[in-house]
Amino acid sequence: MAKIFEVNNLSFRYPKGREDVIKSISFAVEEGTIFGLLGPSGAGKSTTQKILTKLLTGYQGTITYKGKDLSSYDKSFYENIGVGFEMPIHFGKLTALENLDYFAHLYKNTGDYIELLRKVGLYEARNQSVGEFSKGMKIRLNFVRALLNNPDVIFLDEPTNGLDPKNAKVIKDIILDLKKQGKTIFISTHLMGDVEQLCDQVVFITKGKISDIATPRDLKLKYGKKEVYVEYLNNHERKRQTFSLSNIGTDEEFLSLLKTYDIETIHSGETSMEDIFIRVTGEDKYE
Ligand SMILES: Nc1ncnc2c1ncn2[C@@H]1O[C@H](COP(=O)(O)OP(=O)(O)OP(=O)(O)O)[C@@H](O)[C@H]1O
Ligand SMILES: [Mg+2]
Repeated sequence: MAKIFEVNNLSFRYPKGREDVIKSISFAVEEGTIFGLLGPSGAGKSTTQKILTKLLTGYQGTITYKGKDLSSYDKSFYENIGVGFEMPIHFGKLTALENLDYFAHLYKNTGDYIELLRKVGLYEARNQSVGEFSKGMKIRLNFVRALLNNPDVIFLDEPTNGLDPKNAKVIKDIILDLKKQGKTIFISTHLMGDVEQLCDQVVFITKGKISDIATPRDLKLKYGKKEVYVEYLNNHERKRQTFSLSNIGTDEEFLSLLKTYDIETIHSGETSMEDIFIRVTGEDKYE
């Protein structure tokens, strides 16, 4: 599969900053996939997104987009790129539709954003002032705005953060649908659920450095304990025993335990993405 973005030894320091906030990171984004940039607060996710979307310049290292240096693209770059910002910015006095109409005019081509409003449950509220919108409504409108120009490459900074589970699912389903249409999606997030449910590849970033790159499944295999815990009753007393998952089918002790006792539960020791996040990033808490 073609690499749509290739990032090599990218470093970045804010003009007034004392140190680099991105420290020589390298990764590639494959076309037609969902790429997750995962990390704790302040790790550099939004900064990386802003660099890839040409909103921040003055970086070190190289970035190519479709094989050409990112800096060689002019404003037409944005015709095919959708950007969902971390903080929804809208005109509060205008309605949702007026906001979208305004931003739609900045593009040569636009998609069916009325249909998108329907999909995210904002159609009924389309003529309401955005200033009166709840936080979740603003986030959903922000998402629609990122897709206004029917882009092939979509950047979403924390797209589900602040949404209730139902609305988060609506957004995630749309993202998966976009992938089915062949689009490339770059997501910054600190939410494990997003990564697990959406991403084909995950890059962990902590304090501006990459800690690991893998698929969510590979991360689970790599950091997960491949063990099975059996809880069973022995003379009304609950017992727990752990077995290695490899060759479990011929493990006599395991098999005889299954035959002999009243089994209550069997768990596979697959580490959750939360645990992996903590181990990879070295963070003992996440939001
Ligand atoms: N405009 C700015 N000027 C100077 N430093 C900044 C600026 N914006 C961000 N930073 C610093 O850059 C680092 C990375 O910030 P960034 O916003 O990229 O983190 P993040 O991973 O997106 O975090 P969060 O999950 O909280 O959104 C932080 O140390 C932050 O303080
Ligand atoms: Mg951020």
